[in-house]
Amino acid sequence: MTLQERDQNAVWHPFTQLKTSPLPIAVVKGEGAYFYDGEGKRYIDGIASWWVNIHGHCHPYLTKKISEQLHTLEHTLFSGFTHEPAVRLAERLLERLPVNQSKIFYSDNGSTAVEVALKMAFQYWSNQSIQKTKVIAFENGYHGDTFGGMSVGARNAFNLPFAELLFDVIHIPVPLKGKEQDTLNAMQTALQRDDIASFIFEPLVQGAGGMVMYSASVLDELIEQCRAKNVITIADEVMTGFGRTGDFFASDFLEQKPDIICMSKGITGGVMPLGATACAQFIYDAFLSEDKMKTFFHGHSYTANPTACSAALASLDLFDLPETLDNIRRIGQQHNLFLQKIKSHKALIEVRQLGTIIAFEIKTSERTHYLNSLAEHISDFFISRGIILRPLGNVLYILPPYCISNEDLEYIYNAVEEFLNEAASSSS
Ligand SMILES: Cc1ncc(COP(=O)(O)O)c(C=O)c1O
Repeated sequence: MTLQERDQNAVWHPFTQLKTSPLPIAVVKGEGAYFYDGEGKRYIDGIASWWVNIHGHCHPYLTKKISEQLHTLEHTLFSGFTHEPAVRLAERLLERLPVNQSKIFYSDNGSTAVEVALKMAFQYWSNQSIQKTKVIAFENGYHGDTFGGMSVGARNAFNLPFAELLFDVIHIPVPLKGKEQDTLNAMQTALQRDDIASFIFEPLVQGAGGMVMYSASVLDELIEQCRAKNVITIADEVMTGFGRTGDFFASDFLEQKPDIICMSKGITGGVMPLGATACAQFIYDAFLSEDKMKTFFHGHSYTANPTACSAALASLDLFDLPETLDNIRRIGQQHNLFLQKIKSHKALIEVRQLGTIIAFEIKTSERTHYLNSLAEHISDFFISRGIILRPLGNVLYILPPYCISNEDLEYIYNAVEEFLNEAASSSS
């Protein structure tokens, strides 16, 4: 039996209709910006393996540091116990985070980092016997697949079976260019209620919603509005953190700093699962009490796993080297040159870019975004050229590991252009 056949017999894959989708590609090796399959075919990882990979696959320094940690302390419980990698990582994250952040709560993925943030915000109020249970979130957002994450995310085909089970959220429009005032007005209306616990958002870029981008200045205004009404602000930096948007955090572009920041994905360089939720001191203080009922009763078996923390520390070491930031800048410049070249293409509705992310919104006759049939065609087209790009409906995007070379970027851009030419000629 081939690996794919054994896979089909035993495995259930995420986001996959297993009855109709093709067999998965069996990956046997990763190296730098590449994957290799069993036949030795090479693929460029154009989306950093679901936005996690930063320094490339099997980076020797990360591998060495993780291996050392595995030989020292692989895992320990984290209630009543602590360890150097978790403490050191919290210290180093706080050095990088906006200055108002003062504590790190660990979990093990992006959804849990969000879940923790939401629960912190709800309990912040309940610990003070204040009844605030509503959340404001953007339409079209994505914050993970747990029930809290789904509740604050866009209501769409992915969470339809659970629609009645999700908690009520006030969704306001995304402040797209030219429509900022609509969002500011919607926020003002929402804030007239006195039961708003928090406002959660993906800062500057809505990832899964199609790499939708909006300005830092309008987000500053929204955070200011919330602050004036004592509403806790939560930046979900699960995708945008660790250099993706050109700065270390998207929040670095903001004047108004969020009260809580969720991190995951790139935190370990894409090597180990880890989630972290940072909060300002005033949030933490609301949980300090003689009354045990004010404790934050949340935790996961793998909270602050030392091996994952050591991967994150090693990744931060690589961030301390000038070449990581140079690479981030270089990718941003290359993306921007390609954006200028391609922006008037007939097949495009829009092309947008921030930092290392470039997204191409393709014209399509279908009205559905998420289940757009263009998506499968796009994946096949690029896979046949040895490029891994998985579109979000009709939005094709490149979000590479920072070690990708200019030649590989050029190869991807050429393939994108070829795809757009094909799309334009088939629709005319
Ligand atoms: C902004 C954002 N939040 C949360 C998540 C959920 O992260 P995870 O897939 O690690 O649960 C994602 C994943 O794509 C994300 O993009």
